[in-house]
Amino acid sequence: MKKLFLIITCCFVTASTFAQNIISETESGDAEGSLVQTPCAIIPEPVSLMKKTGTFTLPENVIIQTTKSAELKQSIAYLSDRITTATGKFVSTLASSTHPTIKLILNAQDDTQLGAEGYKLNVNPTQVVITANKPAGIFYGVQSLLQLFPAEIESKELVKDIKWKASCVDVVDYPKLGWRGLMFDVARHFFTKQEVKQFIDDMVRYKFNLLHLHLADDEGWRIEIKGLPKLTEIGAWSVKKTGTFGDFIPPTPDEPRTYGGFYTQEDIKELVQYAQERFVNILPEIDVPGHSLAIIASYPELSCTPDAVNYKVRSGEKIMDWSRGAPPIALVDNTLCPANEKVYTFLDTVITQVAKLFPFEYIHMGGDEASHNFWEKNDQIKQLMQREGLKTIPQVQAYFEKRVEQIVMAKGKKFMGWDEILEGGVSPTAAVMSWRGMKYGIQAANDKHNVVMSPTDFAYLDYMQADAITEPKVYASLRLNKAYQFNPVPASVNAQYVIGGQANLWTEQVFTFRQVEYMLWPRAFAISESVWSPIEKKNWTNFVDRTEQHFKRLDFAEIKYSPAIYDPIFMVKRSADKQLMVELTPEIDGLDIYYSFDNSTPDRFYPKYTGALQVPKDANMLRVITYRGKQPIGRLISMPVADLQKRTK
Ligand code: ACM
Repeated sequence: MKKLFLIITCCFVTASTFAQNIISETESGDAEGSLVQTPCAIIPEPVSLMKKTGTFTLPENVIIQTTKSAELKQSIAYLSDRITTATGKFVSTLASSTHPTIKLILNAQDDTQLGAEGYKLNVNPTQVVITANKPAGIFYGVQSLLQLFPAEIESKELVKDIKWKASCVDVVDYPKLGWRGLMFDVARHFFTKQEVKQFIDDMVRYKFNLLHLHLADDEGWRIEIKGLPKLTEIGAWSVKKTGTFGDFIPPTPDEPRTYGGFYTQEDIKELVQYAQERFVNILPEIDVPGHSLAIIASYPELSCTPDAVNYKVRSGEKIMDWSRGAPPIALVDNTLCPANEKVYTFLDTVITQVAKLFPFEYIHMGGDEASHNFWEKNDQIKQLMQREGLKTIPQVQAYFEKRVEQIVMAKGKKFMGWDEILEGGVSPTAAVMSWRGMKYGIQAANDKHNVVMSPTDFAYLDYMQADAITEPKVYASLRLNKAYQFNPVPASVNAQYVIGGQANLWTEQVFTFRQVEYMLWPRAFAISESVWSPIEKKNWTNFVDRTEQHFKRLDFAEIKYSPAIYDPIFMVKRSADKQLMVELTPEIDGLDIYYSFDNSTPDRFYPKYTGALQVPKDANMLRVITYRGKQPIGRLISMPVADLQKRTK
């Protein structure tokens, strides 16, 4: 077969991974002269990627050869399934083949550079070889290999007439951090076991290895606990509401409480196994003493407040007053009572079972945003303070956290909490998940606590990623470029104590799994690169390029994502003569913005944005759309002028 390669990008064999590395080639014989693109866009960016001459093409019969097929059965099954589904190729595993197509090799002696999750991937014109020390490394090598094939490989259906080519490369790759997490809040809205599995499937493509399940909050208790049946009979159910969560009208007593759900212990075992087969640990979180209304509604005797007998699981109505900041003023007492011994008995029962169900070494016990206003007035709390010599309410919470940690440790597990556990005095063995910025994580790591960084500033995926006009309303924004700046191990931290980094997806405003996906992608690409790739490999322009290529992959995988990078950022100001002015800035380069003030829908024959717009006095709507060349690429955004006016205040 005669091949003529036209190199479009900078160089043929280069250690630089920043060049986008698209080789276009014409092939006489099989491609009939058509242009075939073989992009080389791996996310997260590997430690080292050397592009070589040529391409590898999947043959009709794909033979996977392994040295240790029992140990690698997950990767073999995964790779076979992914190849067969989209390409229809016949995949077999033959240990003795003289012409294997893909070799998966576990090193006889550890390659220390690779550690437990690293891999080497060599794609040559006739063969692919993945080597690793451990099965997890092979699995990540497989993920990178799949990303070298055309985007259609992600399809859930057979795709015909594709040249299944991958660029020839030598990759050496291993993660920056051993804990690469995504938190999934299944409490605010319940997501089914099948959806959690889908979440796992989606995250492993980008080499995340930790799923933090937020299993309990004011809106629902999501795990069966034997001996505490009301947690799932009462605590798992609320009134179905749709609209803007937090502003819902309080439910009336006759409204059915049928919205929600929980995982049985069998479900949890199934999920844990499903995750393990994909090299994912599940971190369970039981959020106490705050965020506990579902518990209190089930067992009101665990509250300090007698009126708790009337409490119901929250259905999205207002229960907190945040007007004075954190901690919030609770309008109902959604806390467990630290002065009540029954609380510790309850938690012992819960933690005993959680510890058995989840093999992961940590249990996360929450600790965030516990409001103290009910405790401040409570006689039981006053007696506790006197008895234990506690001077302040934060010390009361610290007393609670230490007792909970004792329970967790008695079950053979390590205790983790949100960074509020640092207040009022923390036990030296507690691990901290830093969310109110990086500073608590830095402080905790420097005080020799194990720390996972998941700061709001860079890693809160519940925040809006585009203009509020297109998004369900959340009180803050996090655009892709900011998420990409996440550095979980800044220079000022004692790095040995930073065990991980993760992003958190709270689901107050997330009602469906499609919206879960929309909130995750592409920001979770940015997080994956922040927790996996060396910082010197990060490059925004190159990342955007790869992100766009992965949009195509998500399209074929039928995974929803946000196209917010194509939408302009709106900035408003008043000119010196008090005119309303609007600035429009695309988040990425190379886009043109067209606009109208006459209520009609702009296209590329409309005025092009070139600088701040003065809003005409009589206009009531600004409509904008972005194009790349002749192609519309952003969403049509209709921005009421009244909305812009509000933003100047
Ligand atoms: C949190 O976001 N309240 C941990």
